[in-house]
Amino acid sequence: AEPRPRVWVSQPLFDDIVGRLGEYFDVDATAEVTAWTPVQVAEKLRGVAGAVVTLNERIGPAEIAQAHGLRAVANVGVGYDNLDVEALHARGIVATNTPDVLTETTADLGFALLLAAARRITEGERWLREGRWRQWSFDTLLGHDVHGATLGILGMGRIGQAIARRGAHGFGMRVLYHNRSRLPAGIESNCRAAYVDFDTLLRESDHLVLVLPYSPQTRHVIDAAALAKMKPTATLTNVARGGLVDEDALADALAGGRLAAAALDVFEGEPRVNPRLLALRNIVLSPHVGSASHATRRAMAALAVDNLVAALGHGPRAGDPPT
Ligand code: DGY
Repeated sequence: AEPRPRVWVSQPLFDDIVGRLGEYFDVDATAEVTAWTPVQVAEKLRGVAGAVVTLNERIGPAEIAQAHGLRAVANVGVGYDNLDVEALHARGIVATNTPDVLTETTADLGFALLLAAARRITEGERWLREGRWRQWSFDTLLGHDVHGATLGILGMGRIGQAIARRGAHGFGMRVLYHNRSRLPAGIESNCRAAYVDFDTLLRESDHLVLVLPYSPQTRHVIDAAALAKMKPTATLTNVARGGLVDEDALADALAGGRLAAAALDVFEGEPRVNPRLLALRNIVLSPHVGSASHATRRAMAALAVDNLVAALGHGPRAGDPPT
């Protein structure tokens, strides 16, 4: 009999879901969270037909140079800036991601962070735990309203639209968005969102949320010049990729009172966090957990596994791998 193709799963997911791969393949499953070096990634990819990977594994020309049998890479995550898709496609390797299943969960976290920044929730908790609460007082930890304020969304894809709906329908916000292209009128009216140019978005937003893909073109889209256009009473929330924001410029704006507060789930050099951000009072920090609910992480793992099975020519979606 022909030897079964081999696949690599780069991080522990859910055993029962990863186990489905065993129906078709010999599975090299990673049992513990591992910080693979690029050289180790290249070694693992050598000799496999497919891989399920996460944002921790960067896959570009160097990693696939020796991977002559590699036919598919399934990313667990909707963002795929860890993959050099052009290099993969040039070698005929299929790349897939996990859109849709994490949209609402990530929008929930985005809204939680926005609320936490605007209403100073984590700052207040630190203050309380430090034993500094003496009595209720009129001017303790005053923040900025979310309801009725102007919500700005940069990147109006699936997650941006889900955040817009929360703002418009749940909090009575006026919603503005900027995107590569204007959305169809039906989507705009469903989200009660109005298209504006980037400068107007910066100038008019009370709470700006970043939900756009990271690429060399969007690197530091929020830089000192962009921050200077924002209201000093505004908040900035990022649930996309850290590299969208110039973190030193953000630290300057927050320290200088030129921006009220920020909330970041993602960082340019994560898991390292810029020490200037760590030192600030008016910032909410979370460790890249936008899609981290039990149900959503299972759905992401299942979709990535299904994508790999399909891309390698098995299962119901054979021949029509999602892109
Ligand atoms: C995503 O889905 O892009 C998350 O950041 C995890 O990769």
